[in-house]
Amino acid sequence: MNKQEFVAEYAVERKNTDSVKWDGLKSTFNADDLLPLWVADTEFKAPKAAINALTKRVEHGAFGYSLTPQGYYDAYFKWQKERYGIELHEEWMRFGTGVVQSLSTLVSLLTQPKDSVMVLQPVYYPFMNVIKNNERNLVISDLKADEKGHYTMDLADIDAKMKEKDVKLLILCSPHNPVGRVWSEQELTDLLELCRQNQVLVISDEIHHDLLMGDEKFVSALSVKDGYYRDNLVVVDAPSKTFNMASLLNSHVIIANPQIRARYDRLFTRQEAPAGSILGKVAGQAAYEDGADWLSGLIETVKSNYEYVKQELTTAYPEIVVTELQATYLMWIDMSKVVAPKQLELFIKQKAGLAVDFGEWFGQAGKGHIRINLATTPANIERAVSSLLSALQEFQA
Ligand SMILES: Cc1ncc(COP(=O)(O)O)c(C=O)c1O
Repeated sequence: MNKQEFVAEYAVERKNTDSVKWDGLKSTFNADDLLPLWVADTEFKAPKAAINALTKRVEHGAFGYSLTPQGYYDAYFKWQKERYGIELHEEWMRFGTGVVQSLSTLVSLLTQPKDSVMVLQPVYYPFMNVIKNNERNLVISDLKADEKGHYTMDLADIDAKMKEKDVKLLILCSPHNPVGRVWSEQELTDLLELCRQNQVLVISDEIHHDLLMGDEKFVSALSVKDGYYRDNLVVVDAPSKTFNMASLLNSHVIIANPQIRARYDRLFTRQEAPAGSILGKVAGQAAYEDGADWLSGLIETVKSNYEYVKQELTTAYPEIVVTELQATYLMWIDMSKVVAPKQLELFIKQKAGLAVDFGEWFGQAGKGHIRINLATTPANIERAVSSLLSALQEFQA
């Protein structure tokens, strides 16, 4: 599906629908008249096949306790195998109501209070929250950025800090939000090898892996070196980011290692924890079965929005650094040469009228940056760029 067809068929107004992004601005931005480009969901309806499957299930009318449909495993495994060559097994699969909730469960399961847990910043801020809220010690290794805003891992720093701080667990974002990287198999091998040598377990958050915007190939941590590291890691992902289904509360925890799985199951039994939502599974299954064309429409729309923003901003202000978008629909922009980092937040909110994610939310390394959600209509993106450019002209006059 091309961009025009996708936008015409799927774009939807979300204001006044209890949307966090549109109707929940006040608590984070202290204003409710900003154009929202923050929370990572989209202004597009889920694939028609998913809506039809949900409608049918809802019309059945009984919502008693449910199993994971066999068709769900079949559809998800086929999707992962055909698109990325990932081999999965039913016994590895556990379900959650969200990836962040699973991250918190896994941090408490895989480490002890005060243990050190590492992240590579700038990174999705709930990673830091689940570490701190579980009373673990946060260890940060900053990614290295070149002058074009291309980010790589600092392996020497990671190795040194793993040793010095006795790190027990690393939470990896792959592909990486907010710096848009699809980590190559070589980069993942180098990192996973360091973790193995230092006896550091890994959680690989792969929720963005369907949102590939360039030619880079996505490699799951489960597939690196033909599965060599898979006993040392847990993968979390979900259909929710890909197909705009976050509120349907269905996510995956993939555990190949039988000992870790047994510990995970014991914890779940103890907590009497719920294992996802049938509506999330019905919608997810239909999307994996029939959502490929929808996804190509979303990707084309995001890429076109990205090119537009990049072109407009860097033509007017060549000193703005726009990071390459290999994956995710989240654009990472270094504004530090045009607006002083300490003025940036007020400038974006009060002068440009935008609600974005601010760089320092992702760690000190993000200071001076903004993250813009591109998974919205071209009309919203044009409005945002025009407000930003007028605000910059006024600000610099
Ligand atoms: C890396 C990453 N993990 C997890 C999530 C959220 O997942 P969930 O809504 O399933 O908790 C996001 C949302 O932006 C994300 O970027």
